[in-house]
Amino acid sequence: MSKTVEIIIDNKSYTFPVIEGSEKELAIDISDLREKTGYITLDIGYKNTGATKSAITYLDGDNGILHYRGYPIEELAEKSNFLEVAYLLIFGKLPTKSEFDKWNADITRRTMVHEDIKKILDGFPSTSHPMGVLSSLFCAQTAFYPESLNPNRPADGVYLSIIRSLAKMPTFAAWAYKNAVGHPVNYPDNKLDYTSRFLKMMFAMPGEDYEVNPVIANALDKLLILHADHEQNCSTSTVRIVGSSKASIYSSISAGINALWGPLHGGANQEVIVMLENIRNDGGNIDKWIAKAKDKNDPFRLMGFGHRVYKNFDPRAKIIKKAADSVLRDLGVQDPVLDIAMKLEEIALKDSYFVERKLYPNVDFYSGIIYRALGIPVDMFTVMFAMGRLPGWIAQWMEMRNNNEPIGRPRQIYTGEVSKPYVPIYER
Ligand code: SDX
Repeated sequence: MSKTVEIIIDNKSYTFPVIEGSEKELAIDISDLREKTGYITLDIGYKNTGATKSAITYLDGDNGILHYRGYPIEELAEKSNFLEVAYLLIFGKLPTKSEFDKWNADITRRTMVHEDIKKILDGFPSTSHPMGVLSSLFCAQTAFYPESLNPNRPADGVYLSIIRSLAKMPTFAAWAYKNAVGHPVNYPDNKLDYTSRFLKMMFAMPGEDYEVNPVIANALDKLLILHADHEQNCSTSTVRIVGSSKASIYSSISAGINALWGPLHGGANQEVIVMLENIRNDGGNIDKWIAKAKDKNDPFRLMGFGHRVYKNFDPRAKIIKKAADSVLRDLGVQDPVLDIAMKLEEIALKDSYFVERKLYPNVDFYSGIIYRALGIPVDMFTVMFAMGRLPGWIAQWMEMRNNNEPIGRPRQIYTGEVSKPYVPIYER
């Protein structure tokens, strides 16, 4: 007998079904609430509202658990690689050797972008933030591949769009960086693996026989895995709702890139470093900045702390912190902001303000430190997040489409002026 709940409104009883997920999460299905009762629910920021049923990623915020298609993030980060995790997220299973080899070959042979992309890139001044360049170049694929606009595109056509998205994202990202530093762009070296190919496009200088440092490539591959998906976060919800209007995968993901850019979301990794450097330049007075973060009259927040869902340690932050320690050691990098970050974390985790609100370090708290150690410039931190999140966005967009979900269209409670006759404010 499936479970139900009863709501009583004006002494009238209404029954609604309860949905139970595979990890025992419970939801009240209110799909026909308004039709039955005339009421809607209000949940600004969707803190208590499920937008969909999904089989891709599971996270338990209270216990700091994160699974991609059932596999613990800790095991994937340690034993898998980014392209294999991308395949797992998108197709729902780990690839066989031959499936992986085909997947890797299909992506590798499409890393080049149309030469006319350079004309678009040239239109961006070098002061442009790379996230704005990235979302524009990614959406420009709708112009070069107009067949992607067909909402009823056959499966092989959608596969091609998926391959092009994964293949060209690193090229767009590296070119956005080269545009920012005024260097000529590099073409993808298809003899290299996915992450090494990106690093060479980012950092190789004209005529240089650039060698990728395997420590950096491995650390970056792990970081991309850790960012690959995170259920219905702000940018993924954006990709799903834009895609629900039958917009193309390229325009849906471009919208996701822009949502991720925000400093409260993916932009936080850049803000964490800005914050740590401000604290350092301010003489390392951590107590002063913690007091500012707690002061309701001060807009300052501790960037990299807190999370909508995790009310325990973000499991990704733990893995990245460990990786940051080993990468800095392997590269012989001494980073004073890492010391400040460790002290900040130690003090905040004992402070009742943060403890009561269950504010722990999130994925962005340490990722900026490791990106810096890898030589990634601050303006490119959120671009790295976008590169990592791409397979998650694709998987979620595919799931929404394959489930034939309706166009997303939330309701509202109107609080404006009530109906009144039009009287001109001034004589005509
Ligand atoms: C990501 O959703 C995802 O999964 C996102 C992400 C992903 O992988 O996609 O995990 C990636 O976006 C991580 C979050 C990165 N953002 C930051 O680090 C920015 C700093 N953090 C906050 O702005 C905040 O914690 C949010 C935005 C992350 C979450 O905000 P919520 O859930 O809306 O919580 P809230 O703003 O209602 O805060 C609850 C209380 C408030 O105090 P009270 O009004 O109860 O007194 O906690 C306080 C807030 O003022 N608070 C903070 C704080 N975060 C929350 N106070 C100081 N510093 C902070 N960082």
